[in-house]
Amino acid sequence: MGFGLLPSVRYNPPMPVTFLSDSPEATQAWAAQLAAGLSPPLVIALYGDLGAGKTVLVKGFAAGLGVTVPVTSPTFTLINEYALPLGGTLYHADCYRLSERLDQAVSEARTVGLEELFDEGFVLIEWAERIQPLLPKARLDIELTGVAPGQRRIVLTDHRSS
Ligand SMILES: Nc1ncnc2c1ncn2[C@@H]1O[C@H](COP(=O)(O)OP(=O)(O)OP(=O)(O)O)[C@@H](O)[C@H]1O
Ligand SMILES: [Mg+2]
Repeated sequence: MGFGLLPSVRYNPPMPVTFLSDSPEATQAWAAQLAAGLSPPLVIALYGDLGAGKTVLVKGFAAGLGVTVPVTSPTFTLINEYALPLGGTLYHADCYRLSERLDQAVSEARTVGLEELFDEGFVLIEWAERIQPLLPKARLDIELTGVAPGQRRIVLTDHRSS
């Protein structure tokens, strides 16, 4: 009763999934498990302040895909790449050092060929908001927020079907 006028096609926003992490190890274990259930090509945009745990999360994600070499922050190199033992590549980008002007940051990221990687493998991007217009719509967003010393709230939103 009373619902008859609602349009039959509704907008279903993707449901975020929240994980409360108590330690860097817990963040890594969560990311490793996430990685094991995903297939490339896939872009994962990472958001969160300095020290939020984005790189820690990428280390766990890489470990979940069998990467055994050390995963280090690409802050100065923009993109690091890791060959995956089962084939394919994990790209780890960090947009922190790009221009703070959105249009300029986007053109800098284009110049280094970041966009071309989007259908190549897993592409995990720290400071993804710096290049927001360049990101594909079909992606995962992961936001990390400090809630207490050692604790992080991790919110995953899956936009792949949008
Ligand atoms: N639950 C947690 N999950 C992840 N990291 C944590 C957690 N608790 C504490 N930490 C600490 O927070 C720091 C996160 O550092 P990390 O380099 O991953 O941050 P970041 O988000 O990549 O920062 P930046 O923007 O500078 O690249 C590490 O020193 C890690 O040990
Ligand atoms: Mg980092």
